[in-house]
Amino acid sequence: MESVDLSESNSLKMRQGEHIILRLTYISRYNTDNANGEVTRILEQARQNNERNGITGALVFNHNYFLQSIEGARPIINGLLRKLVQDERHHSLQVIECREVEQRHWNKWSMKYLIPSDENKGLALKFSTGNEFNPYLMSTNQIMMLIDTLSELQEQEEQRASQKKKPWYALG
Ligand SMILES: Cc1cc2nc3c(=O)[nH]c(=O)nc-3n(C[C@H](O)[C@H](O)[C@H](O)COP(=O)(O)O)c2cc1C
Repeated sequence: MESVDLSESNSLKMRQGEHIILRLTYISRYNTDNANGEVTRILEQARQNNERNGITGALVFNHNYFLQSIEGARPIINGLLRKLVQDERHHSLQVIECREVEQRHWNKWSMKYLIPSDENKGLALKFSTGNEFNPYLMSTNQIMMLIDTLSELQEQEEQRASQKKKPWYALG
């Protein structure tokens, strides 16, 4: 077997900026005319690719809008952004925030999927400017807060659901 000079491959990665972690958040509109565009298929592809490429993140789908945060090595995130812009399953992509981070926020998920539940439907409106959900009218802060709050509420709901399944003697 051929031996790999790790120090050389590491220094190449450094030169390409792979040690720098970027978090990029964008919004886009779902293309309802694209027959290959089912959201479950998009999510499956995202999770498979991201696991391979060391990308983590969260995807919100609400009222035909996407809000997505992706984090990973800078050249990888830039490569994905180019693909996303060309992807005809959505359109009108707008970058909301792009910054270097010390630590990943979504490090547990290759792509966490967030859809407002019946219980927290009003939340998306709470962070919106008008009386209709439209992320293009929302500020960066409002969008970031919406993603974070949805994620926290979903986790609480999941915890409650898993507690319900436990027998009484296992409840802590
Ligand atoms: C809303 C949306 C979110 C996506 N998220 C990701 C993602 O997180 N990771 C990814 O690799 N592809 C994602 N994609 C798919 C990419 O646009 C592109 O089709 C895919 O990366 C191409 O992969 P391939 O080069 O393996 O064919 C997303 C597409 C859409 C429409």
